[in-house]
Amino acid sequence: MLTGRPRGTNDILPDEAARWRHVESLYRRTFLCAGYGEIRTPVFEHTELFQRGVGADTDIVEKEMYSFTDRGGRSVTLRPEGTAPVVRAYLEHGLHGQPQPIKLFYVSSPMFRYDRPQAGRYRQFHQAGAEVFGAADPAADAEVIALAAGFFRALGLRGFSVRLNSIGCPGCRPAYRERLRTYYAPHLGAVCDDCRRRFEQNPLRLLDCKRDRALAAGAPSVLEHLCGDCASHFRAVQEYLHDLGVDFVLDPGIVRGLDYYTRTVFEVVHGQLGAQSSLCGGGRYDGLVEACGGPPTPAVGFALGMERLLLTLQQEGVALPVSGGLDVFVAIAGGAGEADQARRAAAVLVARLRAEGVSADMDLAGRSLKAQMRYAAKYPARFVAIMGEEELARGTVALRDMERGTQEELSLGAVVERVRALRAACPD
Ligand code: HAM
Repeated sequence: MLTGRPRGTNDILPDEAARWRHVESLYRRTFLCAGYGEIRTPVFEHTELFQRGVGADTDIVEKEMYSFTDRGGRSVTLRPEGTAPVVRAYLEHGLHGQPQPIKLFYVSSPMFRYDRPQAGRYRQFHQAGAEVFGAADPAADAEVIALAAGFFRALGLRGFSVRLNSIGCPGCRPAYRERLRTYYAPHLGAVCDDCRRRFEQNPLRLLDCKRDRALAAGAPSVLEHLCGDCASHFRAVQEYLHDLGVDFVLDPGIVRGLDYYTRTVFEVVHGQLGAQSSLCGGGRYDGLVEACGGPPTPAVGFALGMERLLLTLQQEGVALPVSGGLDVFVAIAGGAGEADQARRAAAVLVARLRAEGVSADMDLAGRSLKAQMRYAAKYPARFVAIMGEEELARGTVALRDMERGTQEELSLGAVVERVRALRAACPD
């Protein structure tokens, strides 16, 4: 082998891909049903979008971006997250001029962060997310949280919890920041290097430190420092969530690692994920559209990590569909001479079945009939249509029902209908 895959990346093989498809289609259904439209943005963007959008002082921009200069001399970056690109697209296509709110979602979008890989943390990973623009109402915050939680529940996931917080607005946050600085100042000698830097640049992130947890636990709560508007917005979000039957835990330790948040922030965590316990994160970002050059536009959204979600589903033992399975395997019987003729007829039958939406395959490796039957069983194929010398002469096939152990001879034209009728009668 010339080389393995790059560290922190994953191959998704057919069995795993079947589970992804299941999650993706439920996600699409959930958001299409709620009036969201799908958006797909490029895998790379101009670097300044993330510097301005995500925040120059964040871990993502400081340490984790895959940035490079392209052949035209421009700095571009493989997207580390999806919100800033969606904001860019919202502005670039004039969606802000349309009736608001604009509700968008994305699914299985590749994201790139240069971080130390471990279980649940990769350098290329995939996010499903949703972004709502032009809705200041707390009902919008509650809607995205409820949709995310409802989606997890509908998938069969149980051991997750919604952690909710508000980090205030540019009006009330500076005073809280100062309170935090006052609290942390006497402990600066004892905190980690990252926290000393955060103390200067963004004291809220001190609460996020995995190492200095005890200190963070004793810090003044942001919820006691919200201005009147932020406090009433937050109360309303909680009331909506109660009405919608969404359980949540107030957690003033949720501050998020990206700079654009205002007011509501939330994460969905799962106990079995260990260090990488966050399945999903999001919140309100009322200043981002303006920071990207647009008009003042309230916005709220979230993103979930597909790999982490699939990992937790597996850990919880949630049964998801597996790949494989075939409606009809067309097997070729007979000696070399007839087999040639039968092979051509088989290829035509397979194409006809496929065109009719019946999944079908045939031997492409010159196997004996016995080996073909074994190969069909591995799929497993529900029916095997055997084409031999005699059947060919009569314009028929021998259709064997592998589940019932029965066999019948049918004209070539009747096979599709017969398979369809029997297949409909089988449980999925
Ligand atoms: P985030 O918290 O950085 O938020 O990422 C969201 C989710 O992506 C995480 O909860 C996690 O499941 C997954 N994730 C993040 N990094 C990795 C990684 N290295 N490997 C595997 N999974 C990962 C955002 O990205 C925001 N754009 C969310 C948002 C949308 N806020 C508002 N709208």
